Amino acid sequence: AARKSELRDEIKQLLKDKNAVLVAHYYTDPEIQALAEETGGCVADSLEMARFGRDADQQTLIVAGVRFMGETAKILSPEKTVLMPTLEATCSLDIGCPAKEFTEFCDAHPDHTVVVYANTSAAVKARADWVVTSSIALEIVEHLDQQGKQIIWGPDRHLGAYIAKQTGADMLMWQGECIVHDEFSAQKLRDMKAIYPDAAVLVHPESPASVVELADAVGSTSQLIKASQELPNETFIVATDKGIFYKMQQQAPHKNFIEAPTGGNGATCKSCAHCPWMAMNGMQAIHNALSGNGKGHEISVDDQLRQKALVPLDRMLGFAE
Ligand code: 13P
Ligand code: SF4
Repeated sequence: AARKSELRDEIKQLLKDKNAVLVAHYYTDPEIQALAEETGGCVADSLEMARFGRDADQQTLIVAGVRFMGETAKILSPEKTVLMPTLEATCSLDIGCPAKEFTEFCDAHPDHTVVVYANTSAAVKARADWVVTSSIALEIVEHLDQQGKQIIWGPDRHLGAYIAKQTGADMLMWQGECIVHDEFSAQKLRDMKAIYPDAAVLVHPESPASVVELADAVGSTSQLIKASQELPNETFIVATDKGIFYKMQQQAPHKNFIEAPTGGNGATCKSCAHCPWMAMNGMQAIHNALSGNGKGHEISVDDQLRQKALVPLDRMLGFAE
């Protein structure tokens, strides 16, 4: 415990000395989220992280989350130094959507508008007309559909299916998924609902359609946190990464938050409602990033790629504002 508080104090000092600010996602460890809050950084969903990073006055951003979040920050603020606790923190959606194959898919349908989820590499974003995050995807696709556009959607097939169902848009889907959300089980969730009949079910739309169907609220991490405050229920079953419980519990200490069941059990579930890449972000890794020379921590994006990826990202931020 002594070492922990020492580490926290040292990171605080490093943030000051380096003119750096901590930008953290809701899925990171509670102690990282708390530190971001205490030091004037942010804890947010992926859209808000992008906006916060872009608008921050500090010269250095330390992005606690996964790789695409650091890359997005760098694309939006090339003049800033963007550090991550580890560059190894990727995402199954990013892995499952290699730029070369995705480009071929797009090239085969040149009349389609390409909409990609933020959980992708800079190279995939560079091929897109629009980038979206889960908090704004529905509105943007609705907008494109109203203009009569045919859409290529990638890479999350569950989020894509949810949006297609809600909007009726014509969408060609890349077949990717989030290994965390893909594991939630509708069958087991129904059983759990029977045990807690008064509970509201909160679901991130990266979950399978059968799970989304059982939801009282569907949305991005920020939108789910908001729903957990606004709905009158005392108990919530939550189908997203368990990192989100820190904020939900903080905002509503008297409410009960329960993890939605995954298909496996402790021994057999692959991710057990916690993203293995988000889990790579630790306090020691943040310390290393801030105290080192950038090696192994600093995000760089090829400048030509950056300029191309900036266009659809700016389009999203402009639409959201
Ligand atoms: P939000 O955009 O809802 O924060 O979540 C995206 C995600 O899955 C981050 O891993
Ligand atoms: Fe990717 Fe899923 Fe992890 Fe989010 S939770 S970073 S979508 S693997």
